[in-house]
Amino acid sequence: MNHPQRLEQMIRIARRAGDMIVQARQKQNFSHDYKGGDELVTEVDVAVDQMIADELEALFPGEARLTEELAPDRSQLEQRGPLWVVDPIDGTVNFAYGHAHVAVSIAWAVDGEVQLGVVHAPFLGETFTATRGQGAQLNEESMHCSRPTTLERSLVATGFPYARDKRGPLIRRLNHVVHACRDVRRNGSAALDLCHVGCGQLDAYYESVSPWDFAAGLLIAREAGASTSHLYECPDGLPVELYGENLLVSAPDIHGALGDLLRDADAGRPLAP
Ligand code: IPD
Ligand code: CA
Ligand code: CA
Repeated sequence: MNHPQRLEQMIRIARRAGDMIVQARQKQNFSHDYKGGDELVTEVDVAVDQMIADELEALFPGEARLTEELAPDRSQLEQRGPLWVVDPIDGTVNFAYGHAHVAVSIAWAVDGEVQLGVVHAPFLGETFTATRGQGAQLNEESMHCSRPTTLERSLVATGFPYARDKRGPLIRRLNHVVHACRDVRRNGSAALDLCHVGCGQLDAYYESVSPWDFAAGLLIAREAGASTSHLYECPDGLPVELYGENLLVSAPDIHGALGDLLRDADAGRPLAP
């Protein structure tokens, strides 16, 4: 199957997943559970993951999958060859509370390089897609990131881990960002934050997340003209495009300044006057 045909199938599967999510919310009868102590998961997360896995296996038998609920084994990141990276519901807390920032994220990588990405937000009516080297689209229209030139004119999104004891150091970053930038958003879906940087609804995004949260969105943002990097060097042996620690994605002209600001915060350096 060539890349456009693959992407078409990914869009179809993501929309099917979106329909399941919308129907589940209408019925409101799904059960909740917790994994690892505080991380919410619903039966819809698992059912959508299973549906996507079944679809991908039928169409692309034998291709490896890394999916948040059913196949989260990260050792697959070290393997060569094709790899599907799937978050069945990005924004589970939003989903459970009735908020709109909820997305299905499907990426297809080969040898650690993401080739195709789809992020579908059923409640927002937004489907973001990208093909490596060929730009990004929102609902089939070409899209581009914003062009702010200063941090003072930049709207910055971020997120926080479920583990509350890991949030402390992030408050220092937040303090620097709220003082230096226009404002901050915490919308609750990393995949959508990335796409929204890509289409100019946000100017920047930073966070540490898992591969399924960002694999598709990062490609989409980059193909839309955003600059993408990590605040610190990535470890050897893991594909950079699937390594989610200390991600920074932004409109190009503010990338350097925002990276410096966040590293200053980490190092305990005060805000420049
Ligand atoms: C979460 C969302 C959130 C981010 C968290 C993720 P989930 O994914 O992307 O915005 O801040 O780090 O875990 O759990 O809703 O799939
Ligand atoms: Ca997620
Ligand atoms: Ca998820």
